[in-house]
Amino acid sequence: MDKGSKTAGGGYVKSYGCQMNVYDSSRIAGLLDGQGHVQVDSPLDAEVIVLNTCHIREKAADKVFSELGQIRQIKQERAELGRPLLIGVAGCVAQAEGAEILRREGAVDFVLGPQAYHRLPEALKRARDGERPLFIDFETNEKFDDLRRPNGEVDRGQLTAFVTIQEGCDKFCSFCVVPYTRGAEVSRAAPDVIAEAERLATSGVKELTLLGQNVNGYSWDGPGGVWTLARLFERLSMVDGIERLRYTTSHPLDMDDDLIAAHRDLPKVMPYLHLPVQSGADRILRAMNRRHTAAEYLTLIEKIRAARPDIALSSDFIVGFPGETDEDFRATMRLVEDVGFAGAFSFKYSRRPGTPGAELDGQVEENVKKVRLAELQALLDAQATMFNAGSVGRSMDVLFEKTGRHAGQIVGRSPYLQSVQVDGPTELIGSVRRCTIVRPGPHSLFGAIEPEQGVEARN
Ligand code: SAH
Ligand code: SF4
Ligand code: F3S
Repeated sequence: MDKGSKTAGGGYVKSYGCQMNVYDSSRIAGLLDGQGHVQVDSPLDAEVIVLNTCHIREKAADKVFSELGQIRQIKQERAELGRPLLIGVAGCVAQAEGAEILRREGAVDFVLGPQAYHRLPEALKRARDGERPLFIDFETNEKFDDLRRPNGEVDRGQLTAFVTIQEGCDKFCSFCVVPYTRGAEVSRAAPDVIAEAERLATSGVKELTLLGQNVNGYSWDGPGGVWTLARLFERLSMVDGIERLRYTTSHPLDMDDDLIAAHRDLPKVMPYLHLPVQSGADRILRAMNRRHTAAEYLTLIEKIRAARPDIALSSDFIVGFPGETDEDFRATMRLVEDVGFAGAFSFKYSRRPGTPGAELDGQVEENVKKVRLAELQALLDAQATMFNAGSVGRSMDVLFEKTGRHAGQIVGRSPYLQSVQVDGPTELIGSVRRCTIVRPGPHSLFGAIEPEQGVEARN
């Protein structure tokens, strides 16, 4: 892109993290818009750049500094042209290492922790006055208040939306930085969530994904008693126009009977559950402070499947946690075999400063982690392929979201979050139709729209 193009004034936000980080990035972009910095597609065209960072693994955190190196150059070139460029670092690295970032990177103008996004306008103003503000206080409730979507603030034609309902985590898994970067668990007021859902429905959104670091720990003590996630789902099911409800990420300990029953009783709650287990070895689960055993996880899965037999399950795994032996790793492989996942994320353990895991003896060698990860991923990939192959011949509701790569094709999602391509008219985008799955592809399924008009119904 032409570096001299006259689009200064633009805002550019880059997300590096989890779904909540992506959601936060869109809110930051909204705040920049409100300050007159309309979104641009390239940092070269921006007057304000915000990197929304992730601290979960070393690699994720390191990206920030390499990216800042490049942006520093843009800033220098700009300075020569007399055009200003403000650089902000937001997100979980900002929270964990904000002061260090300001010290190490002279090009950074402001730092915003994940609970302080709403202070962006103030940060911009102060940065323009030559200060280098560092906002890393925990002010979650204020953030929820300030980041409410203004009426109708969704992209035109947007069919799916994230809604943050809970932030922070009290679980303190011994490998994880989230309780330190996002702070204690806070749930958003149910009436605010419902109002946002209604506004989104009015704007044409059909599917909501409720977000929280520990989303099924949602608990809001309102006038009519405590609202759990199950109760929220019951209420959100009544919102006209919203046809599908999803949520992520859940902890096994908070998977209560009411929530399991919601999967059975509420047709809008999709049969898909991301329920991280991390390891199949009790010794390791204990050291990770997960507070459940492998057998308890399996029993929970049985209960969930009894309520909703077709549910698609996904998980997160960590290999090479300190002290993990070959035998422990075999236990993880056995658990995967026992459950049969539709998909999963798996990672090599990354030692994070400040977490209890970083101090443990028995850190596992990088090579060993690499071999274990490859073996685990091969099994998980095979299960994902099997899950998709098992869909062939089945009839399922597809919410069409966009046009496909080839003319005449439209693409949507199955209840199980699979991408489904069919030949069909673009007028169907935004509606749910029943489709027969014809064959699996590498990343999506191919289907055919069934002649009868379909409604979102249970098999
Ligand atoms: N409950 C959270 C989990 C966030 S982290 C959520 O809302 O998504 C996502 C996943 O990253 C975890 O489930 C875990 O599998 C992985 N992870 C966290 N810390 C890690 C570390 N130190 N090393 C490797 N993987 C890690
Ligand atoms: Fe991290 Fe564990 Fe909390 Fe998930 S539940 S955010 S893995 S501490
Ligand atoms: Fe990363 Fe923070 Fe999300 S550490 S995973 S961006 S909560």
